[in-house]
Amino acid sequence: MTVIPSLTLNTQDPMPLLGLGVYKATAPNEVETAISAALDAGYRLIDTASVYKNEDGVGRAVKASSVPREELFITTKVWNTAQRIGNIEGAFERSLDRLQMDYVDLYLVHWPVPGCYLDTWRALEKIYASGRAKAIGVSNFEIHHLEELYQISGIVPAVNQIEYHPLWNQSELRAYCQEKGIAVQAYAPLARGAYFNRDTIIQIGKKYGKTPAQTGLRWLIQKGISVIPKSSNPARIASNADVFDFELNDIEMRAIDALDEKFRSAGIPEDLR
Ligand SMILES: NC(=O)c1ccc[n+]([C@@H]2O[C@H](COP(=O)([O-])OP(=O)(O)OC[C@H]3O[C@@H](n4cnc5c(N)ncnc54)[C@H](OP(=O)(O)O)[C@@H]3O)[C@@H](O)[C@H]2O)c1
Repeated sequence: MTVIPSLTLNTQDPMPLLGLGVYKATAPNEVETAISAALDAGYRLIDTASVYKNEDGVGRAVKASSVPREELFITTKVWNTAQRIGNIEGAFERSLDRLQMDYVDLYLVHWPVPGCYLDTWRALEKIYASGRAKAIGVSNFEIHHLEELYQISGIVPAVNQIEYHPLWNQSELRAYCQEKGIAVQAYAPLARGAYFNRDTIIQIGKKYGKTPAQTGLRWLIQKGISVIPKSSNPARIASNADVFDFELNDIEMRAIDALDEKFRSAGIPEDLR
């Protein structure tokens, strides 16, 4: 079992550098099986969202596991519709009900919905103050969104979860976040497979006996970025976590940096286009 290191959030709580994403794991029992395999492989962070429609399965998997709740780091997110309706507290309580939990470790604003996200953030501040979210953060926020939050809030987001991988190296946003004490978490860290056929990645990985997926994840982790690769396959879940026994050198890091082509693998939700 891999021991997964953590970074320290601005709340002073630890957050694992690697966790399991569960987007699209909605077939019967799929998320339960994936989480069980992930916990066996040493994962302790699970990233879900109300819009993934599997918070209930996440809750069942956590209940069924022998890992104590306090050793887990559970993230969920408030969706755009709830932001437009304006009842964040209701959305949060429904997430907790489905998860069968009385707190989450991280609650995120899933997208900066124009005209809504500042009010959403104010609602998250209250949830944080109540102790039902140990940390609050944002996702898909750019620098100007974060600047706006500073104007209205005394709470700096603990995390900004953004698409980040070798084909989209968001170095400017990362530098900004890390300077402000906002942990960066990479979603779609595998770019859904889009860089697995790149020669640079294949050759660097080969040197260490690692797959393209492991090489891309390692590049992110060495930048101090937490990663949440999704897989529902137990062998790939274990393999994706096997990234803490090698280190890329500066030349290799720069060679992967150079693959950036601002490639977006996950897309923007229809209601925000
Ligand atoms: N905040 C946001 O707006 C946002 C947006 C998108 C995603 N996310 C979060 O980030 C997580 C990860 O992103 P993602 O799911 O979009 O993409 P991803 O993790 O980059 O890629 C997942 C895809 O890669 C496959 N895969 C996983 N490991 C593999 C391996 N070792 N070799 C070959 N293929 C492999 C998976 O298939 P199998 O399952 O068959 O292995 C799946 O099709 C999501 O699950 C979600 O939790 C957040």
